[in-house]
Amino acid sequence: MSTLLVTGGAGFIGSNFVHHVVEHTDHDVVVLDKLTYAGDRASLAGLPEDRVRLVVGDIADPEVVDGLVGDADAVVHYAAESHNDNSLSDPSPFVHTNLIGTFTLLEAARRHARRFHHISTDEVYGDLELDDPAKFTPETPYNPSSPYSSTKAGSDLLVRAWVRSFGLEATISNCSNNYGPRQHVEKFIPRQITNVIDGVRPRLYGAGENVRDWIHADDHSSAVLRILERGRIGETYLIGADGERNNLEVVQAILRLMGQEADAFDHVADRAGHDLRYAIDATKLREELEWEPTYTDFEAGLAATIDWYRANEAWWRPQKAAAEAKYAAAGH
Ligand code: NAD
Ligand code: DAU
Repeated sequence: MSTLLVTGGAGFIGSNFVHHVVEHTDHDVVVLDKLTYAGDRASLAGLPEDRVRLVVGDIADPEVVDGLVGDADAVVHYAAESHNDNSLSDPSPFVHTNLIGTFTLLEAARRHARRFHHISTDEVYGDLELDDPAKFTPETPYNPSSPYSSTKAGSDLLVRAWVRSFGLEATISNCSNNYGPRQHVEKFIPRQITNVIDGVRPRLYGAGENVRDWIHADDHSSAVLRILERGRIGETYLIGADGERNNLEVVQAILRLMGQEADAFDHVADRAGHDLRYAIDATKLREELEWEPTYTDFEAGLAATIDWYRANEAWWRPQKAAAEAKYAAAGH
């Protein structure tokens, strides 16, 4: 048994990973989370107190970070500012958390010689044309578009440098778009589900032809655990589940599953610099580490996610008005 330090473990994907670790391993978990607007203690509710401890703090604070990293056997680094639209209105917290925060963790992991796994995104590779047969691979050159994705790209490069220059025992994973329970209502799928619950029409940026490669957060967690256990040091693994859909298809699936007409949505102002298409080739993860996703039916996963938001209004309701106010100010 060992102790994992999970940064950002009160957010959407980090909390999913903490639940996954508790259910599938005998590791203890210490969560380091600043509880920004995106973090919520309630996402860790129901977990055993003798195995999961939450420390509220900033990953860019060396004094907080050093002791926690020293006390852990491995660091799994999820904490980030994660939303592209926010990064367009104010990039500064993205530089602080994604770059300075990652640097601070890496320095502590180097001092204490700790195993490090860095969670990143397919957005570091930029975007693909709609009719391009190519998908992202670990060899695709970095070409990020937004303040969010460029700070994530910078954080990946820091990790690679710490491996090569200082011998840090680190791995990196770049995953596609996640969906599932406990995702903040600012994100595309929960925004539309909670809009429909509120009697508000879904909002589609531009024509809705942008493609995202959807994966259930549970599958992301099982992949990260597999990389932590069996991944080769210094390697990058891409995580995806062949879930390409355009945004119009996703909105229409939500409307259908929630008993609405197929055209009951509105087109709104497009995102500046909006990436067209993401697509992951996860062959390396599947063949080398023998990982397979569990959720292969997107509509079934989406239906379960809709059920979760219907049953857990107390979790998302406190976020909803503030998220919509930000969108109204940005014209979305
Ligand atoms: P999220 O916004 O839901 O959660 C982020 C968490 O990090 C929150 O709990 C927040 O309080 C915490 N945090 C933010 N700044 C912090 C700081 N300075 N110190 C400590 N904690 C801080 O994000 P998410 O969607 O769960 O994404 C988690 C990670 O996964 C990120 O690194 C993101 O880049 C990556 N990722 C996300 C997706 C996706 O589809 N959401 C896909 C691929 C990769
Ligand atoms: O690809 C992985 C990335 O996926 C992660 O790194 C990010 O942290 C995560 O937020 C996500 O980024 P996206 O920008 O793709 O996700 P978002 O949910 O913001 O938007 C998904 C798509 O839906 C995108 O093309 C924009 C569009 N959209 C979004 C919102 C909020 C709409 O059409 N309407 C909306 O109201």
